[in-house]
Amino acid sequence: MKNKYNINHVAIIMDGNGRWAQQRGHKRTFGHEHGVEAVHSVVEGAGEMYIPYLTLYAFSTENWNRPKEEIDVLMRLISKAIADELDNLMANNVRVLTTGRIEELPRESREDLERVIETTRNNTGLTLVIALSYSGRSELVDTAKKIAKQAADGLLNPDDISESTIQNNLYHPEIPDVDLMIRTGGDLRVSNFLLWEIAYAELFFSPILWPDFRKEHLREILEQFTSRERRFGKTGEQVRAH
Ligand code: IPE
Ligand code: IPE
Ligand code: MG
Repeated sequence: MKNKYNINHVAIIMDGNGRWAQQRGHKRTFGHEHGVEAVHSVVEGAGEMYIPYLTLYAFSTENWNRPKEEIDVLMRLISKAIADELDNLMANNVRVLTTGRIEELPRESREDLERVIETTRNNTGLTLVIALSYSGRSELVDTAKKIAKQAADGLLNPDDISESTIQNNLYHPEIPDVDLMIRTGGDLRVSNFLLWEIAYAELFFSPILWPDFRKEHLREILEQFTSRERRFGKTGEQVRAH
């Protein structure tokens, strides 16, 4: 743990772009464009606060059901925004990863993302994980397939399957569990994000619409996080004893 908050991994459901734009009489995509400024600020803030891992929910598997025009704008915007940030990410020592069914993205988006992943791979500061065409259930389906193949190939006895077997076959087994999950935009739900990884996460919901969210808001939530007692099934007395 490298920070005073005792946090390894923060995950954010960046919600509220559409409503932000509509409140201003614009199309929903205007909100996505302005969401990029919030991403910039939060990534910078997470680095400054020595958070090791930050996962941002950028596009869910369910988001493929949105109007084609909105999907097209989002795809272009996400990969372009990340590519435009490359110098900044290098200057801030940020390593970029993606999680999700990346093969489902348009080729140009995949290529932009690949370039950023490759260029930032040896950076040692914040690891920024972008969840794209991601859902918790589809990750668990893909995990189950990998495990079933190992069993079918005789490499694994089904009786030996444990929680670590599942952990070790996730998209990124090396990434620690989420300590803190934040959702902006005022809705109180998880929307199929990181279902396995949030088992013991502390949940925070902010009414702020994503384009207005800044690193100061993140800092405030991190401060509040430190006053939560994480008991992991034990009693408060047990937890406070050491
Ligand atoms: C989050 O904002 C961005 C994505 C889901 C890609 P929304 O587009 O969901 O905005 P609201 O929730 O409709 O306001
Ligand atoms: C969750 O937001 C997905 C992302 C932020 C990428 P949604 O706006 O898609 O979630 P629902 O549909 O309101 O649950
Ligand atoms: Mg939404």
